[in-house]
Formats: sequence, C-alpha cells, structure tokens
Amino acid sequence: MQPRQADQRHYKSTLTMSDKTNTNLWGGRFKGETDPAFAEFNSSFGLDRRLFAVDVQASMAHCNGLKTAGVLTNSESDRIKSALQTILEHGQASAGYFDEQPAEDVHTFVEARLVEMIGDLGRKLHTGRSRNDQVATDLRLWLRGEIDKLAVALRNTQEALLDLAEGNRDAVIPGYTHLQRAQPILFAHWCLAYFEMLARDRERLADVRQRVNVLPLGAAALAGTSYPIDREAVARLLGFDETSRNSLDAVSDRDFCIEFTSAGSLVMLHLSRLSEDIILYSTAEFGFFELSDAVATGSSLMPQKKNPDSMELVRGKAGRVFGNLAALLAMMKGLPLAYNKDMQEDKEAIFDTVDTLNGSLAVTATVLRNIRINHERTLEAASHGYLNATELADYLVRKGMPFREAHETVGRIVVHAIEGSVELNEVPLDDLKSFSSLIDQDVFDSLSIERTLATKSQIGGTSPERVVEELALAKAQLQNRER
Ligand code: ARG
Repeated sequence: MQPRQADQRHYKSTLTMSDKTNTNLWGGRFKGETDPAFAEFNSSFGLDRRLFAVDVQASMAHCNGLKTAGVLTNSESDRIKSALQTILEHGQASAGYFDEQPAEDVHTFVEARLVEMIGDLGRKLHTGRSRNDQVATDLRLWLRGEIDKLAVALRNTQEALLDLAEGNRDAVIPGYTHLQRAQPILFAHWCLAYFEMLARDRERLADVRQRVNVLPLGAAALAGTSYPIDREAVARLLGFDETSRNSLDAVSDRDFCIEFTSAGSLVMLHLSRLSEDIILYSTAEFGFFELSDAVATGSSLMPQKKNPDSMELVRGKAGRVFGNLAALLAMMKGLPLAYNKDMQEDKEAIFDTVDTLNGSLAVTATVLRNIRINHERTLEAASHGYLNATELADYLVRKGMPFREAHETVGRIVVHAIEGSVELNEVPLDDLKSFSSLIDQDVFDSLSIERTLATKSQIGGTSPERVVEELALAKAQLQNRER
C-alpha cells in the first residue's frame, strides 16, 4: 500500500493536481485557478500517503470528539466512521486507489473520498480541525509506531551480536588504539562493546517516544478549537499519553522529528563503526573475519574479489541520516510561529530516516549471522606486536617499581626485542634481568595471553570471567526489556 522509499517518483501521480483544480479546499476565497506547475510543487501526496492509515485513524477519533461535543449526532458519527473504514480498506487493498483522484496531500485525499461517499455529511468532519493539527497528529502517531518497530529491530541486532559472541567465546583478538595493536581482548568483549552502544540507542528512542506521544489535535489551525471537544478523551482513544498544552506550539514544532533523527543518527553512527571494523577485519591484511557469500558480492572484473558491500552500504547510509538531521534543523531554524508550509518538507527526512534505519539494522543483523571468525589468525595477531608490554610494566609495578619507571624500562626492553626480532616472552631471562634486577623467571607467566586477559578482571574489563558475566547480563537485559 505505502511506497517503501520516500521517492521522488511518487510526486507524480497519474493525475496531477492541475487536472482537477476544484479539489482545492479554499474555493470560496479564490477566483483563479492554481498554476499547474505550482500545484505539482505544492503537493506532498506522493510522500505523505504513507500517513494514510494514521490519518484515517485520527479522523475517526476526531469524529468521536465532535460527537461528544454535540457537533455530530450519534448516527452522523457512525456513518462517517463507517465510510472512513471503507476508505481505509480501499487504500489497504490497492495502491492504485491513491492515484484514482488527484490530491494536494493525504488529508485532502481522505476528506475528498469521504465527501464523495457520503456527500455533505463528509464536509462536517473538518469542523474544529485544521490540517495543521491533523498533520502533526498523523506524524506523531506514525512515528510512535515506527519507533516501536525500530526498538524490535535494534533488539534483533543486539541479539545477533550476543549470538556471535557466544559462538566464539574463546576467540582472542588484538584490541587497537590509533589502529595500532594495543592489548589483547576477547572477541566477545568487542561484540559487547557494540551491544552497549545499541542498548543506549534503544533507551534514547524510548525517551524520544515519550515526547512524540503527545496529542496535538484540538489545537486547530493555531489558536485552539472553539468546539467543546474533550481533547483528553481523543488522546486516550489514540493512545497518546498526554495532550499538548499550547496550541501554537502543538502545530508548529517539529522538535520531536529532530530528536528522533538525532537518536537515529547515533544508531547509524554506531552501525557505521561496526561496519568499518567488519570491513577492515575482513581484508586479507587482517584476515580475522570472513563474510559468507550471502552478504558479500563479487567484482564484475576481478574474479578473485569478495567485497563487503553490505557493510559499506550501512557505513555510507549513515550520511543520509546525518543529512536528514541537518535538513530538519535548517528547515525549522528561524521559522516564525505558528505553522509554515516549510514544514511540509519534514516528511521526506523522517521517512528516509526510518527506512534507512530499518534497512541498515536488518542488514547488519544478517551480516553478524554470516561472519566466520578465524581464531588462529586473531590469536596470532594478538600474540605479536608486543601487546603484552603493559603487562610487563604491571609486573614490575607489582615488584615495587613506580609505574613511570616501569613504563620507561619496558620501552627499552621493547626496542631490544624489536632489534632481535623476537616477542617479549622470547627475550632470554638474562637479557631481561639486565634491564631490571626485579625481573625473575615468573615474568614469563605474566606475559602469557591468558594472564594478560585474566588480569583485566574489574567491572568492564576483558577477563574471560567478566565477559561471561556480562554476556549473561546482556542476555537477561534483552529478555526483560521488551521495548
Ligand atoms: N501537507 C501539509 C504538511 O505536510 C499539511 C498542512 C498544511 N496546512 C496548511 N495550512 N497548508 O505540512
């Protein structure tokens, strides 16, 4: 029913606004016809038809509001709601329905179909309502639903991270700073780092949801409605937790869109870093990961290539969402109160953000389920390049040397080892002793990968003991917090 992508093509329906300018809602005040090119430019129906279902839903709730306000009789309200239900079913049955008649936007489309079906009675529905509070209501309803779906998508990606960690519990990889080998870490620890980022992303979205879930309907064009509509009852009907407290603000702010896109930007930023790690670790130079054929592509020219397009696209698509955030901020900056048509431009940014997030999260989860970790290769990388140098310094500290002096001493030992083309644990004991008399046979124990990992046993560290604990906690977190 709804186009998946916010797509420029949808601006053009088979019938254009100019084919039927009398669909305008302001006929009384106007004598002339709308310029056809302007009508096309003005139309948002190609995009905002995605709000069709929530527009109908909000109209039904408004209908109830008008009934309790005494504007509509019970039977009038029933007839309107039943016609709206039929319209909803038509729209859900066939995408072609939206192109049968031209419309400026989804709100005028639904209203025009209603009038077509039940005549003058349909014209009563817009009492005490404006498209300004309507569009804000629709967008909030729609976004709320999408946030709930995104929470599930985020959770699935987190689950894929946990499964990958569980399946490779013993794998050791080099940890990097400045992309230089730093200290050995458990692969599961790396997985859990991304798990944490996505956990915060879920929290942020849940937080945004609270401010999205406020009812603007009843603000009318800008000043509030003069009909005795019980706004709180309408809010309850639509599942809104709160009712907006100021009509000007209700119709004219899009901070909830900006907040959402900002939270979405962080999701994409996190996914882009994960993508980059996976891309890098899948190169021959690293050789840590291999992506299965399901999520890689070949080259049209070079037969040997296996490219990580899936992750490159996710990395690249982060830019779209950051762009959407910038677009929304720029669109809103300096707008006078209250509604301005500039704000019609919010849809494309929001729809594209939601689509990009959904697509990227789904592909990332699939990639995570299609990675093979080369344990020998990662262990070998973690064992070469003096990743245990800090451990040697800590050894000297345990023997009584101040850390700064230990750092300096180990630095000299590393130079000696590089000159001899050996690792620290391959330097003969006598050589080591020549740098410090504190060094003894037990040093070799301290320099093992096992010891290096095991010592990082405080909260948040990479010791196997801690990581097992964190994996269990992460699992429990996923099971407990559904949203
Ligand atoms: N299509 C418009 C939008 O998306 C709906 C509100 C139009 N209101 C108006 N007074 N022109 O923002």
